[in-house]
Amino acid sequence: MKTEFSPTRLLVTGGAGFIGSCFIRHMLAKHSSLFIVNVDLLTYAGNIENLSDITHDQRYKFVQGDICDQALLRSVLEKHEIDTIVHFAAESHVDRSILKPESFVKTNVLGTFSLLEAAREYWLNHKGWDAKSCRFHHISTDEVYGSLQASDPAFLETTPYAPNSPYSASKAGSDHLVRAYFHTYGLPVTTSNCSNNYGPYQHQEKLIPTVIRSCKEEKSIPIYGNGSNIRDWLYVYDHCEAIDVILHNGRLGEVYNIGGDSELNNLELVKLICQQYDALFKPVKPSASLIQFVTDRAGHDWRYAINHNKITRELNWAPKMILSKGLLETIRFYL
Ligand SMILES: NC(=O)c1ccc[n+]([C@@H]2O[C@H](COP(=O)([O-])OP(=O)(O)OC[C@H]3O[C@@H](n4cnc5c(N)ncnc54)[C@H](O)[C@@H]3O)[C@@H](O)[C@H]2O)c1
Repeated sequence: MKTEFSPTRLLVTGGAGFIGSCFIRHMLAKHSSLFIVNVDLLTYAGNIENLSDITHDQRYKFVQGDICDQALLRSVLEKHEIDTIVHFAAESHVDRSILKPESFVKTNVLGTFSLLEAAREYWLNHKGWDAKSCRFHHISTDEVYGSLQASDPAFLETTPYAPNSPYSASKAGSDHLVRAYFHTYGLPVTTSNCSNNYGPYQHQEKLIPTVIRSCKEEKSIPIYGNGSNIRDWLYVYDHCEAIDVILHNGRLGEVYNIGGDSELNNLELVKLICQQYDALFKPVKPSASLIQFVTDRAGHDWRYAINHNKITRELNWAPKMILSKGLLETIRFYL
């Protein structure tokens, strides 16, 4: 496929988090002439150690800062002559958004607004660059589409938004702002909405690292409700590859759904991890005996499912990792 755009000087926001750090590692390994600046506030969720293997790479620079700080963003864009932005930075944990929604609105909505404004000023006004020479890619979630019943078809890019948590509502707000900057100002944007990621470097508070840690420490494995909630699981490096493909060949103003073709309910997922853990480490008691059902999350969406036909058809991307193999690699990484 002919490449329509080639990023050369990339700003990644939230690059010390789970997906952002994998994306930076993936891009530096794949594109030898790429330069990447990572702007991350290092909240509780950010861990600079996620990138310890590339800290001294001349093609990489870290700047600690807040995406709500527009002056800082403008100076980073100018100083490093950024032509591409990939925007991961967000408050990302649904449970925290239920307890303390304000920081989600601030970072996810206002932070995205401030980044869009900085890009608009730098690209469209200050530098006079045309839309073919720069890109703004926004990372979003399948959660903006709301919750599905068992017989509902999977989410399409055209599925109406119906966010149910402060997290998904704030991400929906950011998606709408990105769309508006394309239609109003001609900012060259693309957006992707992906399903649940798994893999190395995820914060320990999330489900899969929690289950692995519980198996290791022989502590109870908490599962919300009766474990019937269904998610689609996407290996993080498959996700990174999809973003790379969109950056190079995605159509401006378009949204692409990214999924892993791996729908499982939470109980099935946890049992699979327990099985794999037991096969590797042979504990005295089966790890599945540690499972404990806990009070369900408020407003817990029942099912998410992604139809990724559009990115497969247009950009020839499909997930490669098989869930059981990806989980095994993930267990090995955390242990
Ligand atoms: N993890 C998933 O399964 C998943 C699924 C769909 C979409 N997403 C989206 O992908 C993106 C990345 O998710 P993740 O799981 O890597 O998140 P994460 O919580 O692991 O990382 C978020 C990063 O953003 C940084 N950050 C937070 N607020 C900031 C601010 N104000 N300024 C600068 N940096 C800030 C944090 O320090 C952290 O490094 C998010 O936008 C999230 O909504 C994630």
